[in-house]
Amino acid sequence: MEKLTTIIFSIFIALGMTSCTAGNQTDERTITTPAEQQSSSAAENSNETSAENEASSGEGKTLVVYYSATNNTEAVAGYIASATGGELYELVPTEPYTSDDLDWTDRDSRVSKEHDDESLRNVELENPVPDNWEDYDTVFIGYPIWWGIAAWPVNNFVTSNDFTGKTVIPFCTSSSSGIGESGTLLEEAAGTGSWLDGERFRSGQDEETVTEWVNSLNLN
Ligand SMILES: Cc1cc2nc3c(=O)[nH]c(=O)nc-3n(C[C@H](O)[C@H](O)[C@H](O)COP(=O)(O)O)c2cc1C
Repeated sequence: MEKLTTIIFSIFIALGMTSCTAGNQTDERTITTPAEQQSSSAAENSNETSAENEASSGEGKTLVVYYSATNNTEAVAGYIASATGGELYELVPTEPYTSDDLDWTDRDSRVSKEHDDESLRNVELENPVPDNWEDYDTVFIGYPIWWGIAAWPVNNFVTSNDFTGKTVIPFCTSSSSGIGESGTLLEEAAGTGSWLDGERFRSGQDEETVTEWVNSLNLN
């Protein structure tokens, strides 16, 4: 199965596919947190109405949080910040990933080892908790897709913050995989907040497409 996954992913990359497919998602449940017990009701209530009801304590500010290893997600985050007037917040691993670390074709690379052993995916961040967190009532959270799920450096951000009263909107970039369950898994890990479905963009996505999506959310 592991080899098959790698082969399928290699084909996606080799063909440079950009369509939004389910791709090679795995059945991994990567994130476990103390907040999990509260998660089911948060998942069920994840719609715009409950978001409006809950999002009353903030000051209407938007934070665009992202992790990006090779800048594709960073670019999309920048477009979202421009479209919303929000503030950008980059998540920085205490031990950043080198290009060798990211070599998923090398079974001995850091990222491959972390993929193979879930216990290694608790990536420490320099900045898991944004300043003035309580001021934001809309939080975008962006990440690359790694093996069909959210790149795990975002996990510590999600489990370190209370999303109560906030509308949370996942977004991701990938070569070919769709957003899949990545946003739902993060929502379950967070256990709080009103999470929208989110969106996947291709690596190198143009600004116009991202802006159109932001406008379609009718956040104002
Ligand atoms: C370790 C690793 C695993 C990846 N797994 C997938 C995958 O399962 N499906 C996919 O379409 N792309 C996959 N990609 C490609 C990235 O999702 C894509 O290049 C993304 O835009 C990178 O975002 P970034 O530049 O913000 O880091 C993977 C890349 C890496 C480094």
